[in-house]
Formats: sequence, C-alpha cells, structure tokens
Amino acid sequence: MEIVIRKDAQAVAKQAADIIEKYAREGAVLGLATGSSPIATYQELIRRHREEGLSFKDCSVFMLDEYVGLEPTHEQSYARTIRREFADHVDIEDSRVYSPAGVSEDPLQAARDYERKLAAHHVGIQLLGIGTNGHIGFNEPTSSLNSLTRLKTLHPQTIKDNARFFDTAEEVPTHVLTQGLASIRRAGHLLLVATGEGKAEAIRQTVEGPLSGMCPASCLQLHPHATILIDEDAASKLTFTEYYRYADDHKPENQDY
Ligand code: F6R
Repeated sequence: MEIVIRKDAQAVAKQAADIIEKYAREGAVLGLATGSSPIATYQELIRRHREEGLSFKDCSVFMLDEYVGLEPTHEQSYARTIRREFADHVDIEDSRVYSPAGVSEDPLQAARDYERKLAAHHVGIQLLGIGTNGHIGFNEPTSSLNSLTRLKTLHPQTIKDNARFFDTAEEVPTHVLTQGLASIRRAGHLLLVATGEGKAEAIRQTVEGPLSGMCPASCLQLHPHATILIDEDAASKLTFTEYYRYADDHKPENQDY
C-alpha cells in the first residue's frame, strides 16, 4: 500500500483527480463511489473536462453499491447521485453507467446479475471512501474478505452517518446491494480517499491494524496496487507517518501513484 498524505481536502481531491485522469485518458472502466468523500474529486474532474478538454467518452462506470428499495430516479439513490454529482457533467454515455438494481423482485438475483456484469469487465481504477467503522462499499465489519456482490444489512452506525442525506433517519434504507471485498479487489488499482478527523481511527485500522473482516478496508493490504490518499486530519492517528512522507518524497522516478 502507498500512503499519501496531503495538506487538506482540496489537495487530496487534486491528487485523486491527477490519478483518475490518467485512467480516463486510457478510456478505462472507472469504479466510482458516492458519499461526501469523492465529491471534491468529481468537481475537479468536471472542471478539467470543461476547461481542459479532459474526455471520458471511452470510459464506462461501475458503481460500488445501491440502496435496496430506492428507484434509480430517487434523489438519494446512488444511481441518481453519481449522475447528479459527476456523470451528467462530463461526456460519459449514460447507458455505460452501471449500478446494482436497487428495486427488483429478487434482490439476491439482482446481486448475482451485477456481479456477473462486473466480472465481465476489467475495472482499471476503483475509487473508494471509507465509513467511520472501516466499511468500503457497504461491506460492514465482519464481511468476508472473499465476498462478492450481495445483499447486506446496514449497521445502525452507517444509517446514522447517512441520515444527513435524508430528511429523517427512518428514511434511510436498511438494506443495500454492494460489491463484495473480493469484487472490489479485482480492480487494477484501488484508490481510497479520506479526509477529516472522523476518519482517523478507521484509517489507522486500515493501514496499521491487522488484516481483518472487522475492518473491511484492511483488505486493501492484500492488493498489489492500493493508494490510501488522506489529509493531515485523517492521518492524525497513524504512527509511521514519517516513513510515509519519506517514501512519498523519494518516490522512484517514472513511478506513478
Ligand atoms: C458509497 C460507499 C461508502 C462510502 C462511505 C463513506 O458508495 O460505498 O462506503 O464511501 O460510507 O461515506 P462518506 O464519504 O460520505 O463519509
């Protein structure tokens, strides 16, 4: 894993956009996340599209997860959110933005269908946020490190954390379809972004804790190309920071993040 520490959320977003831009130029399949962590990155990519001609026309997008019971037109569905926050503002073809089906007669089958579609593509880069309890996608603590896309029950803490996007906590769906930890790890490059003190403990466990289903993000330790891109606040509970900064300053020439 490479641990990249930047001054603040804006610097994290710029660095994340630099990394994703390279994949966009190759027309790669982009694995995207919702939530607040990637928003500044999406804004920077949209700016580059508008002002610098960065094109996504050859890219397609696979989303990490979706709430069960929300139509794709619901403002808080992740299918709608990614369009509102990113895809509608760049030149990605709408038909190439894929999400698990939140509304279906058989969510278990919908999960299997999504996994099959995902497995037929090579995701070049997967952008990830992290929950305060260490989840990625909606793989809550105790998720199998080898899990595939499936139906999951949200932890009450996640419902509480996400209530800010809804009028009341009761409106937050209790179930989701999420890519599993093994599905996520098939991507060529994992880029996890986190900012703010609220994420510091989850980042500590991800980076310096043991590989454990209790901190699902720790499965990035198994991946040959994982970048943990964080601001000073999210890095505040790490103990090896001197080494991470040193390694970043001494990055071998021609080696990209
Ligand atoms: C969203 C997702 C979640 C979020 C996580 C952090 O697609 O998969 O894992 O990345 O809950 O959310 P924020 O960024 O809102 O703190």
